[in-house]
This record gives sequence, C-alpha cells and structure tokens, in this order.
Amino acid sequence: MEPTELIGRSGPHGIDKNLTRYGDTEFSRYLRRAFLASAGYDGEDLNRPVIGIADTSSDYNTCHRDMPPLVEGVRRGVDQAGVLALVFPTISLAETLLSPTSMLFRNLMAMGTEEMIRSQPMDGVVLLGGCDKTVPAQLMAAVSAGVPAISVVTGAMRTGSWRGERLGACTDCRRYWLRHRAGEIDREEIGEIEQALCSTGGTCMVMGTASTMACLTATLGLMLPGGATPLSGSGDRLRQAVMTGRRIVELAKGGEDPLKFLNKASFDNAATVLAALGGSTNAVIHLIAIARRAGVALTLEDIHEAARETPVLVNCKPVGTGYMEDFHKAGGLPVLWKALESRLDPGAVNVNGVTLGEFLADTPQPADWQNTIGTLENPIGPPGGLVVLRGSLAPDGALIKRAAAAMDRQRHRGPAAVFESPDDVAARIDDPKLGLTPDHVLVMRNAGPVAMGMPEAGSLPIPAYLARKGVVDMVRVSDARMSGTAYGTVVLHCCPEAAAGGPLALVRDGDEIELDVENRRLDLCVPAEEQARRKVEYAPPPTPERGWRRLYAEHVLPAHLGADLDFL
Ligand code: FES
Repeated sequence: MEPTELIGRSGPHGIDKNLTRYGDTEFSRYLRRAFLASAGYDGEDLNRPVIGIADTSSDYNTCHRDMPPLVEGVRRGVDQAGVLALVFPTISLAETLLSPTSMLFRNLMAMGTEEMIRSQPMDGVVLLGGCDKTVPAQLMAAVSAGVPAISVVTGAMRTGSWRGERLGACTDCRRYWLRHRAGEIDREEIGEIEQALCSTGGTCMVMGTASTMACLTATLGLMLPGGATPLSGSGDRLRQAVMTGRRIVELAKGGEDPLKFLNKASFDNAATVLAALGGSTNAVIHLIAIARRAGVALTLEDIHEAARETPVLVNCKPVGTGYMEDFHKAGGLPVLWKALESRLDPGAVNVNGVTLGEFLADTPQPADWQNTIGTLENPIGPPGGLVVLRGSLAPDGALIKRAAAAMDRQRHRGPAAVFESPDDVAARIDDPKLGLTPDHVLVMRNAGPVAMGMPEAGSLPIPAYLARKGVVDMVRVSDARMSGTAYGTVVLHCCPEAAAGGPLALVRDGDEIELDVENRRLDLCVPAEEQARRKVEYAPPPTPERGWRRLYAEHVLPAHLGADLDFL
C-alpha cells in the first residue's frame, strides 16, 4: 500500500514528507528508513500515511496526568484506519508550576509545536492538551502549520469534598484562601482543604480557562462535538480519543486543514458560547490570537457584542454554583449549543464533517430534570457578563467579567492605591500603614505582556485587615490577567499596558479613578495636562537581557490583539 492510496492526494506523504536535506533525496529516504527500522518499523508500516500525536504528558503537569491512556486511545483509532501513528512530545505548560506565568510561554509552545508539525513527517496531527495555555498554543500552531488537526483535551477533574462540602479547583481554592486570610479558617483547616481541592487528574473542574477553551475549540469545529466535557480518566473521555484517532485519518485523506473550519461565523459562534458559559476572560485573548493566525478579523467589540446579547446559560463556578461534571451529566456542550441554536450560525462545520445545523437536528433541548444548562427564556444569569471598557485609563480597551463581580461596585469612584508589580502587591498589600479602605481602587501595573508575560495577578487579594472586617470585594484595576476561576470587581487587560507607556503608568496614589461598567467607562480623573507632564517623566522598565524573555518583550502584541508575537 502506498501512502497516496489512503491519502488520495499527490506529493510526498507519510514518512517521505519533510525529508531531511542531505542533497540526495533517495539517501534521505534510505537513511530515514534505516533509523526507523531500529524502532521495529518495516516497509509495511512505513508505506502508510502517518498521523502525529502531540503528547504533552509531563510530571510537571498534573492536569495531564491521565494523558497516557488518551495517547494510546488515539493510536488505536489511527491503527484501526490502517495508518501509522507516531507520538511526539512538545512543551507542556502547567498553570501552577511555571514562573512568572504560563502565558509567557504560550507563544513559545505554539512556535515549538508548529515547527514540530511542520518539520516532521505527518499527514495529520492529533493535539493532546488540556491545561489553560496548552490548547490555545496548539490551535495557534495547527493553524499556522496548515496540517489537518484535531484537538483532544484531558478533561476536567472530579470534585473533592471537605467536611461534607463539595469543592474544586480553583474557585474554591480562592474562596477558602480568602477566608483563611480573613482569619475564619486556621492553618490546619486550610491544610485539609489543600489536600481535598484536586482529587483526581485532569483540568480545573470549574468554568476556568481550560474548560472554557475546550468548549470553544469544539465550537470552532476543531474538536469532535462531544469532546469538551467528559471528565479526565472516564470511559467517555477515552472513547473521544479513539474516535478522534479514526476521524483524523479521514481529515488527512482530504487534506482538510484547520482553515477549512475557521471563519468569522465559527469565531462569532465561539464568542456567543463564551458568553453563555460565563467563561474565562483569558479566552478573549486566546480567541483573538487564533483568529489572527487564521486571518479572521475578530475584535474586542465582537466579544462585547456577543456578551451583550447572550445570557449566561451554564451554572458553573465561578459565575454559578456547579462544576464541569454537572455540565457533562446535563448533556454538555451539544445541549448548550441546542439552547443557543437561534443565536449560532448553523453553517459552521466541525471536524466530524457535519454542519452545526445538521448536528443539532438530533440534539435534545436542555432536559427538565437538570438545572445546570438554562435556556434563552430561562437563563442562569443576565446578558452582559463580559464587558469591554474604554476610557482615559484604557484607550485600547480593558475587560471586566461582570457576571463574577459584585453589583454594588460596578459604578464606583475612589482613590487609587498603586502597586508597581505583583511582587509589590505581595510585599505591601497587608501593611496597615497604607490605610486602605473598601472604597480604594487597587491599581497594579507592570504586569502586562511586555512587562512580564501577563500573569494571572489581576485579582489582587483583599488586604487582610479589611478581609477580617468582612470586606470580600474591592475594585481592582491592572494590565494583568486573572484566572478564569477567579471572581470579583476586577478590571483586567488595560491596554496599552504600563510598560508600553499606557496611562496606567501615570497613576499615582490618591488619584481618583472612576469605573462605570454600565456605560463601559474606566477613567483616570486627572487633568490631561498633568497626565502629559507625568508621561514626560515616565521611564519604561528595562528590556530583559537575553533569551526567550527578550524576544518576547520585543515582539509581543498587546492583549487586545491577542498577545501573539508580531512576526507570527
Ligand atoms: Fe491546569 Fe487549572 S491548573 S487547568
């Protein structure tokens, strides 16, 4: 059997693709076969098409702990279709084990994955990811590599419990930590909670970035429709892997690369689903980055408009009270799509070869027996859960997750308390000498993409002495991101960022800041002449001296453009 028999297209395929350049094509083929023979592959194997399986298993990534059986599941599906599967490792990004933040390495992972897809012999690729940045990095890579690709995620963890209460990462991590800082929970108790929060392998089991991106990937059409919500380690999850292995062979035969599925309609669908999920603010940056790679014009205004028109339909923390396992048991993403059917473009095509409209013809409405997936007539939360703000403090835009913010803070004017970085916050936030009150606006800068890769430091902790008095929310403003699992009146992604000379760099302690979410405004109430004077005095932080951090700081785009590198 020749690779072209199964692939049905001309040109080099299978192991003959992307030959190593020795100046002698036949020598390259001969040498490649010699080395692969050492791994037990013979002519019967090597005359088949090849599917690459990008494996992001890592001891440093507990969210991917259940990935090895998924790799074998994909391999089994590919084998059944008569095609050779070859597994290869890539960078793996674990949210809690990378400093200063996994976001600094999303583009590095995207570049590494793209180049491995592009330079190794493969006719299609299955991308195994899960933890927050891994999936967007893989999608960016697949779009740019232009090879047929399907995403598979590890799936969410099961919930744990503590003293009879169900809990999970990471909304409950933050909620209990706040109570610990407020003195309501002692060290021994927080130690018990620490051991109960992450009870199994898998990604965070709330609607954080990983869960959000899994749902958006399927909505974009780059994952099988049932692939977003099965839990890590479950039979449902394993079957998705096997089905994907079979399906990628069909995509490879037709040479159907991701650009076949990505267009304005699929991204608009994703923006609508993001709003209905009450999903992560991080997904806004990732969606824009993927869209730009695909040549699709998706802007912050598109995200805002979709959210303005779409109510929250999924009862999942941090916006609601449930967890991913509840969402899955209620029917998962397909049932959410059904509930949103009138708002989605039915012509969007999935890697399963079926349009969304055709798929939804056989999908049930949200059932009466569940209360996790709402309907447009009976939603979980109002529209407008994500709001794009503009104003003198964020001329190019900022974001607030209104659905996860206290209503009484959404129109607020108060004095700024300025912190120069996340480290400055850690060093001073609990210092009573600052004399902070609940009316202060906590401002943190130098945490944008250029400054340090944009860590999830935007939900600054409530000062301990205020938390002990029962304060649970304050207005916070920064050029950082926040975890999709976090909540509060937190204004994020201020653009331009301080390190790029944005107005956030000009704020001083005591300046009045005005937030008006309803009218989409975020303003620094300082006269323009004074701001201009301060701008002359501003000195940007030094650029890192070497390596990836220097390349990143010199080339990263602002958050409102997706924070990709300008040459990608
Ligand atoms: Fe990996 Fe939350 S830390 S998904």
